[in-house]
Amino acid sequence: MDDSPYRPRYHFTPKRNWINDPNGLIYLQGEYHLFYQYNPAGPDHDNLSWGHAVSLDLVHWEELSLALPYTDGVMAFSGSAVVDWRDTSGFAEGSGPPLVAIFTGHHTPRERQDQRLAYSNDQGRTWTLYAGNPVLDRGLRDFRDPKVFWHAPSQKWVMVLVLSDLHKVQFYGSKDLKTWHHLSDFGPAGSTGGVWEVPELLELPVENQPGQTHWVLKVDVGGGGPWGGSAAQYFTGHFDGVRFIPDTPEGEPRWVDYGQDFYAALSWSDLPAEQNRTVWLGWMNNWRYAKDLPTHPWRGALTLPRTLALRSEGERLYLVQRPVRELEQLRTERYSLGKISLPEGAMPLEPQGAALEILAEFELGTAHDFGLKVRVGAGEETRIGYHRLHQELYLDRRNSGVAHFSEHFPRRHRASLPPEAGRVRLHVFVDLCSVEVFGNEGRAVITDLIFPQPESTGLEVFCRGGTVNLRSLEVWTLRPRR
Ligand code: FRU
Repeated sequence: MDDSPYRPRYHFTPKRNWINDPNGLIYLQGEYHLFYQYNPAGPDHDNLSWGHAVSLDLVHWEELSLALPYTDGVMAFSGSAVVDWRDTSGFAEGSGPPLVAIFTGHHTPRERQDQRLAYSNDQGRTWTLYAGNPVLDRGLRDFRDPKVFWHAPSQKWVMVLVLSDLHKVQFYGSKDLKTWHHLSDFGPAGSTGGVWEVPELLELPVENQPGQTHWVLKVDVGGGGPWGGSAAQYFTGHFDGVRFIPDTPEGEPRWVDYGQDFYAALSWSDLPAEQNRTVWLGWMNNWRYAKDLPTHPWRGALTLPRTLALRSEGERLYLVQRPVRELEQLRTERYSLGKISLPEGAMPLEPQGAALEILAEFELGTAHDFGLKVRVGAGEETRIGYHRLHQELYLDRRNSGVAHFSEHFPRRHRASLPPEAGRVRLHVFVDLCSVEVFGNEGRAVITDLIFPQPESTGLEVFCRGGTVNLRSLEVWTLRPRR
């Protein structure tokens, strides 16, 4: 039940208590597993354990009992999971393959971090800690967030993790998940404005070069993002089974998301080949104010699951993200508008709602600034706009609602977005405490939390400094996921 005016209608959040990074995302026997950093005992970042939820469709989630508890002075920090199909680890007990979780053990009170294994032979319902833990320990304080995958060309497991304070990604290899040898290091590079966290290495299709793939290394920074707080950056390049070779010496960091609330994203392992897609989701939050969010009895939420690809433009490859198509099942009433020329000013639209999906296509005219206002109410609005002269998509949450719990929250966030054939397309998901904007088929993404009053449900289009053609608009009210 909605016990808070901000409880998301269709984004994942636990019933109560603190959540941060998604962990151990894995698909097995028809179920999408979602593990996550969770405090079973309260609303703060403490007692870190792995919470657990499952879904048949990436949209409806069932929260299960705790998977990996905080035990004996060791917290279960972030990590990943694999299906060990060939039982390389020897953890199988029946006929099926074991699920193996690889996570960081965070020792308290004297901070030290090492890498550990746990396994499950009952679809993740119960877990056993490996008796030989830790499997990788270098006596370091900042050594965390292992992402493990099977690298078929070199027939071995590869682990990607970070030396956070040194701004280095490290690669390790293993035949059995238990013994790891060092392969190479990457970094410092790009943004080093904060500790490096939660690396992810992916081979993705280049969508406008059929048959081509390329590698992406995503590394989060705990500070120094485009707006100063925590954020996700990425590098494109090649992974040969030993090292990651970036395409070009990196200059300006490239950001995954230009809002302030996309962090620690992780992709699903072992999706069936016929799905032919890579899907990830992130923690919809920022370390700058995560502890201050005005929600109760839960604190934190995850973003929508997004499919990933690369797009080639000139000399560069850009990451593109799109909401998974399964979300279409949330659509209820549909409202649409044909082509109109927008007059100067703001125009209220018929549909109202705190949970909406909006698809809008604009054809550039003389207006320098146009777009949508969502969650409009007494003195409140969240503006999603396009600045034609700057060729920028933006989200302005300065008047979105409760915003002054942190000086870093009331902001306007911008992303460079060239028009395509004179047009700009927006795909927007509004929920009780968030907005996700995908510009031009995911070429630029802005994810931001907002905390409006529940009654602020108005929707408007606006235009300033001239005219703009709204070519098409579709709006759906979205039903609760539970
Ligand atoms: C990222 C992070 C990880 C760490 C986890 C602890 O948000 O700081 O580096 O493993 O959260 O909860």
